[in-house]
Amino acid sequence: PRSAQILQRDERTFRVHTSAYTDERVFREEMDKVFAKTWVYVGHASEIPKAGDFKTSHIGLQPVVVSRGEDDTIHVFVNRCVHRGAVLTRDARGNATEFNCPYHGWVYGIDGRLIAVSERREPGGYSENFRQPEGLFRLPRVATYRGFIFASFNADAPGLEAFLGRARSVIDRKLNLAPGGEIVLRSRPFVVRYQGNWKFQAENIVDAYHFLHTHKGFVNLQARFGDTTGDFGVHKGGSVKEMRKLRFQGATWSCAHGHGMLENPSSHPETYLEGEFSSFYEGIRRTHGDEEFAWLVGKGAVSIFPNVGMIHQQIRTWRPIAPDVTEVTIYPYELKDAPDAYNEGMLRSQERFYGPAGHGAADDVDIFSRNQQGLLGSAVDWLILERGLDTDELVDGDWRGLPASEAPQRALWRAWARLMCEEQT
Ligand code: FES
Ligand code: FE
Repeated sequence: PRSAQILQRDERTFRVHTSAYTDERVFREEMDKVFAKTWVYVGHASEIPKAGDFKTSHIGLQPVVVSRGEDDTIHVFVNRCVHRGAVLTRDARGNATEFNCPYHGWVYGIDGRLIAVSERREPGGYSENFRQPEGLFRLPRVATYRGFIFASFNADAPGLEAFLGRARSVIDRKLNLAPGGEIVLRSRPFVVRYQGNWKFQAENIVDAYHFLHTHKGFVNLQARFGDTTGDFGVHKGGSVKEMRKLRFQGATWSCAHGHGMLENPSSHPETYLEGEFSSFYEGIRRTHGDEEFAWLVGKGAVSIFPNVGMIHQQIRTWRPIAPDVTEVTIYPYELKDAPDAYNEGMLRSQERFYGPAGHGAADDVDIFSRNQQGLLGSAVDWLILERGLDTDELVDGDWRGLPASEAPQRALWRAWARLMCEEQT
């Protein structure tokens, strides 16, 4: 598309055309121009801790395998037999010494190398001249940042750290809350599909604006019956009415490569130093200092373009299936070396809000489906993403806004237009 067909932008305008969420052709172009061109999150190193461990993932529509080789190298390859194309493994996770194609039995190593072509030497089999392929198609770029594994089909993609840019600060702060700075994905993820475009989830994980509206049932329930999750709460505090009076001190960011962030320092960091986990928190405070401690216990969130985010104590990833179908996977993680009771409390709190029996994910995916439904007709053509537009300021190439700003959502659209639109914008 031409950018003018998708985005209206000037100092007081930031509007997105509805076809960006609904159009079949736009969706197909996104697979080629976004998902096949940029870095895409495929998993976390703690999901494949031992040699031979693997997990399956997707880059856009393309199934991939992420594995750990004998020498500890992480491999990412296309999950498709080079013979006639069968998906090699459908297991979400596992440990293997080799992959055996279910169709005709070709055998691959955990590093994707083709080890054996079945019945190769039988009469009428392959001739001496048969050119045996090396193995599965390997992604030309694989890199990790603090355990987050990213891969790219684009050999010319920028370095991963440059790509992540300022968005690293939310990853860093969430991980620095662990005594050793590491997290572990141990519990099974929660998977949910919704009838809506993938970008609704990418925008929403950093949408502070919706919380008191979309989740008002949850907020008021907590206010009425009390929050039993203590320090771990997704939401601590009063009713929607009382919450409106709170002032946040943080900032929103629109990062250059499409990532959006919310950073909120805790306004009462000292309360963490009392109570059950005082020695755990005290250790963190000693390591990082008072000022940083307030940010570490604060509530940040990040959406890393195009397919992963962090909020509360979880990694969330989403994958496009069709213009109006998206699968979301929520991975609660543990802080390595934090007290078991702390990690358990965090997990319980997430079950309450994001889990299958919780309110949060259900509230949100209902809204995403509602959004898609709202775009079906032709009556409304432009969506408005202008909250905070006049207070955002440019800092080192990223836009910084007040906590109430839609700067994080605009980040996605700037990067999206740069990758998708014919003229460079
Ligand atoms: Fe895999 Fe034939 S498709 S062995
Ligand atoms: Fe929500």
